[in-house]
Order: sequence, then structure tokens, then C-alpha cells
Amino acid sequence: MATGELAGLRVLAPSSSLSFVAVFLLLLAAAARGGSALTRRDFPEGFVFGAGTSAFQVEGAASEDGRKPSIWDTFTHQGYSADGSTADVSADQYHHYKEDVKLMYDMSLDAYRFSISWPRLVPDGRGEINPKGLEYYNNLIDELILHGIQPHVTIYHFDLPQILQDEYGGILSPRFIEDYTAYAEVCFKNFGDRVKHWVTVNEPNIEPIGGYDAGNQPPRRCSYPFGTNCTGGNSSTEPYIVAHHLLLAHASAVSLYRQKYQAIQGGQIGLTLLGWWHEPKTDTPEDAAAATRMNEFHIGWFMHPLVHGDYPPLMRSRVGARLPSITASDSEKIRGSFDFIGINHYLVVRVQPSDANDQRLRDYYIDAGAQNPFKEGFDKAHFEYHPWALGKMLDHLKLEYGNPPVMIHENGVGDSPEAAGKIDYDDGFRSEFLQSYLEALYLSIRNGSDARGYFVWSLLDGFEFLFGYGARFGLCGVDFTAAARTRYVRSSAHWYSGFLRGGELRPEKPYVSS
Ligand code: NOJ
Repeated sequence: MATGELAGLRVLAPSSSLSFVAVFLLLLAAAARGGSALTRRDFPEGFVFGAGTSAFQVEGAASEDGRKPSIWDTFTHQGYSADGSTADVSADQYHHYKEDVKLMYDMSLDAYRFSISWPRLVPDGRGEINPKGLEYYNNLIDELILHGIQPHVTIYHFDLPQILQDEYGGILSPRFIEDYTAYAEVCFKNFGDRVKHWVTVNEPNIEPIGGYDAGNQPPRRCSYPFGTNCTGGNSSTEPYIVAHHLLLAHASAVSLYRQKYQAIQGGQIGLTLLGWWHEPKTDTPEDAAAATRMNEFHIGWFMHPLVHGDYPPLMRSRVGARLPSITASDSEKIRGSFDFIGINHYLVVRVQPSDANDQRLRDYYIDAGAQNPFKEGFDKAHFEYHPWALGKMLDHLKLEYGNPPVMIHENGVGDSPEAAGKIDYDDGFRSEFLQSYLEALYLSIRNGSDARGYFVWSLLDGFEFLFGYGARFGLCGVDFTAAARTRYVRSSAHWYSGFLRGGELRPEKPYVSS
């Protein structure tokens, strides 16, 4: 992307992905600040900047110290990951957490977003706590606090204990809700004295699609013609049942936290949605309507119940009896069950109406009346990156859902599979990417969105759920060929740290020459 020098502010040239309007607003904003360039001081007081990972993706030590398998261990061990790899060792954060906290400290991060591995902390899914798991997370949290870094903890990030899948079908069963709530309580009770930011569930709006509609992710359930090679399933009903149980589990954990822990511990709790933005593929009213429906199916699926206590009327009318009912008492629990909403923002999905007319065979995409962008796998033709889409997402939350406090919990960019295995220090494309999204975020905040934090995905390279090791997202790299899983600092980490120490978002010269 080209940059230009205008009124003392380096901005994206209009030909790039920021629109003319956005550039104009940035210039106005710069003028209001006396022409100076954007720095972190332009974000609201207390705004949190961090980076994130998740347990399965970086911890490794898969069968050490009492950890038992999750459904993702099973899936990867059966050879189903994109590149046939497993996360048995991955970045080995389990053994390198001190080094990683030091990296965060050197980068001046305010916060680290990580998740707790349920099968490490409570290996049988319920009951006995694993003392070694407890010790590990206590150590990690203490180390963060010692370095002045806030722990932002996700309780569940896709890694369901396999034993619960085997015993009663995992999230498909309402028994999941009780076991999840008990596990969440183990987290509140043991770590809540130091953890003040909790996320109940990561991306409950995509796990049901991968695992139960397309069936290309664990536990690989789907039905013809919506997936192949499945372990059983029903793509017409199960995605909605699984989402329903995730929603109820979230609400149950929040209500427990509010009743027993929040007043004493003084933390905040929310849930994090995947925040793809759906745009019409062409300029037709049909495509525009399809994109609106997809945004409702993607975001409204959870935001509508969280704000209004029931699923969106559009989903009710299109999915009918296959969409579970929310009882009056559940509705009361669900409505308002968040202190903030986390958004993981990456892609713009280009949408066209679905051409499927068969009323007997229906799945999530046909219900939404939109073409399935995953029909041929992860087809890049349907996906784009545009910083303005983050602005549209925040506007949507502001206008449709009462402007909730938002944490941007993930935003970042992976490299190409060809780069895998190479040690690269210069990832200027990543700094450029993050800079343009931070500019878009800044504009949204000026336009009244209540964004309170931003986390780069990710702190360091790890196993990617969609790509294995074939796309690296880290500010810091990991040499996966070295037994010691050596870390190295990329130029984007130097840039982020320069910005976090008060430097300009787009510095004239690199903060540290690489
Ligand atoms: C969302 C998920 O939460 C995270 O686990 C994943 O690695 C990133 N997106 C990148 O695809």
C-alpha cells in the first residue's frame, strides 16, 4: 500500500483500501490535533493494547503433566489439519512462558489475551482439577502481573475435552452447559483474584459451522450434501443446537460470575464473536439483501439474544422450528449477559444470493439465502481485507445493538504457505496492515463507537486452526525446526512497541532498523 505525506500525517493513499472519506476524516482529525501524527495518546484514556494467542495453538506439551486430549488433538492426530500437522509441541509456550512474557514486556504490551486449556485444567471435563494445570496457569498469570501486563483470559477457545465428546456428544448435548459452568467456576475461583477480564467463549458463531455444518473441523459432523467424510450429523439442525448450547453456557457462566464473584473480584466478563463483515458481491439489490441477511445470521445470531433476549426475527422466520426456542427464564439470563463484546475482525466476505431451491435440504447458508463461501474449501476469491470493514462492523454494533463496549480481540494477517519454515525478520506488510486498521479504529472511536481495546493476532506464530503452520500470524516468529522453538522478533513487533511507547503510528523511520 502506498503512503503519502499530507498535513504532517502519513496516510494511506486514496488508491489503497481506506476510502476517500476515511482519509478526509483522518486529515480533519489530524488538523484538530494540531496536525500531529496519530499516536496512542489519541485513543481514549485506559484503552488497552495487547496481543493474543490461544492454548491449543501455542502451548504444546499436549500429553504432559496430566493434560488429556481435546477434540482438536483427536482431529489433528487423525491427519485432518490443513497441512497434516499437530499442535503437540507447537510454540511450546508451556515451557517458554517466562521468555514469552519477557517478549511482551519488551514490547510494552498492556495486556496478553490467552486461553485456558480445559483438558489441562480439568482433564476429565469435570471433577478433579489437575494440580499441574493449576500451577501452570498460576505461574503464567503471576509472571504477567509481575511484569505489569494484564491477563485477559478466554475460558473456552475450541478445545473441548475429547472425553465429553465421547461421553455425551459434547456441545450437542445440554449436559455441556453444566460441565462448562463448573469448569468456568474453577477458573473464577482460582484465578479471579488476579484476572479481571474474562471471555466465556471464543467465536461461538463459527464453531457450529465448521464442526456441525461443513464438518471440516472437529468433531466433523455434517450431512449430505453439506460436507463429506463426516462422523454423522445433521447440517440442517445441529449448528443451531450447538450455538444454542454455547449461548446458554455463556449466560450460565456470566450469571454465576455475577452472583458469586464479580462484586468481590471486580472483573468484567463478555464473549467474543468472529466479526467478518459481509458485503454484496455486485451492485445489485439482490446481493445487498443477501449481505444484510448474512450479517444477521453471523452477528445477529448472538447479538440479538444478548441485547434483546431472543434470536433475530429474520432467523426465526427463515429457520423455523429448527431454531431452538429461548424460554422466558433463559431469555432473562441471556439478555444483558455481557460487560463487553469481543470482536475478532479479519475478513470482508463477498456475498451473493444462494441458488439452492431445494426446500428439503437446508443448512445455515441456504437458510440465510446466501452462497456458501466455503463450498470449495477456503476459497480466497470470496474474501478480502479492508480496514473500512472494521468501521462498518463497529457502526453496526453501535446502531443495531446500543453501542456496547467493544474489545477488538483479534486483528492481524498471516503470511503465505511458501514462507513457512523460513526465518523472516522483516514483515513490513504486517505493520502496514495493522497501522491501517488502527487508523480505521481511531476513526470509529471518534465517530462514537465504544471500543476499549485492541489485540493483535497474534503474539507469536503457532498452529492455525484453518492453516496448520501454513500461515504465520506472529509479531514474533518461532523456529519450528528447532527443538528449542527459538523465538525471534519481527519488524512488526519493533513497530508495535515503538507505537505503544508513544511513537507515531506511521513513523518516518523504523523504530529499530532490522
Ligand atoms: C480466530 C481464532 O479465534 C483464532 O484461533 C485463529 O487463529 C484466528 N482467527 C486466525 O485465523
